[in-house]
Amino acid sequence: MKSGGVKGGRARTRAKSPAEALSMEGRRVLITGAASGIGKAMAAIFALAGAGLILVDIDERSLQRTTKDIAGDSREVAAHVADLSKKEQIDGLWTTIAGSLPDTLINNAGVYPMRDYLEEDADSLERTLAVNLKSAFWMCQAFIRERRDKGGVMINVSSIEAILPFKKDLVPYSVSKSGIIALTRALARDYGRDGFRANAILPGAIRTPGTGRLVRKAVSTVNLDLMKTGYDFQSRLALGRWGKPEEVASVALFLASDLASYVQGALIPVDGGFLSS
Ligand SMILES: NC(=O)c1ccc[n+]([C@@H]2O[C@H](COP(=O)([O-])OP(=O)(O)OC[C@H]3O[C@@H](n4cnc5c(N)ncnc54)[C@H](O)[C@@H]3O)[C@@H](O)[C@H]2O)c1
Repeated sequence: MKSGGVKGGRARTRAKSPAEALSMEGRRVLITGAASGIGKAMAAIFALAGAGLILVDIDERSLQRTTKDIAGDSREVAAHVADLSKKEQIDGLWTTIAGSLPDTLINNAGVYPMRDYLEEDADSLERTLAVNLKSAFWMCQAFIRERRDKGGVMINVSSIEAILPFKKDLVPYSVSKSGIIALTRALARDYGRDGFRANAILPGAIRTPGTGRLVRKAVSTVNLDLMKTGYDFQSRLALGRWGKPEEVASVALFLASDLASYVQGALIPVDGGFLSS
């Protein structure tokens, strides 16, 4: 086993040290939504761990900034601009990277559209599902097809909202993130024996540009309902504080590494204790 969930490679003569097991030397990781927040922090920590990187995002300028920021730490980094809500752009991406395929896939890109459920229309629902759920569905399919005989690691980013819908007006979001859990567990079951590991991270209360926009919206529109939800939300955080994107990224590194070689189909909250309190 070359790495947890990745078939092939040399036989080991001795057990790896924990530091060696965490190393991503010789590995290549594809991260979606890498231009901002959690995805950007993932790019940074995987670069430090020695991984080659394929970074994907719809936001070209911010993606360039991520690439520049980690350039000094990265062995190899390629940036690809793609709208992952479009299947043809996902197909195009896999054609483009055919010569340098990843052994680890992290589906992190996502949007948080807030809308009254009764106002929801077909286009808006489709957009949310396309970015948050279908993109991961097609990305995992392409990944498994490409690595059918080698195995690999898939990490999908869900949300605490999939387990405990807390914030109003996020019905399509909650549906999409519940779908991520179903997808992850189904793939874990179907492809575990082929050397694939699939797990989901459920972040909550992580300070990122994405959640910053939600907070600013609550404050700027003096939305009392939203502000109360914010207060209640804060009260549930057992650690008493919001988390940093780096605190999610480190869990992704663990899941990708050999240290997580027997972790399969797991849902891992990284939420300061929100779901447990
Ligand atoms: N921050 C949190 O507290 C939190 C909580 C639960 C779940 N999450 C999930 O974590 C992930 C990252 O969230 P974040 O807070 O870092 O958000 P963010 O908004 O800071 O970053 C999301 C990234 O996804 C990219 N993206 C959006 N639509 C895309 C598309 N169609 N194609 C390609 N890229 C696209 C954006 O450009 C952005 O760079 C999301 O899936 C989100 O749902 C975050």
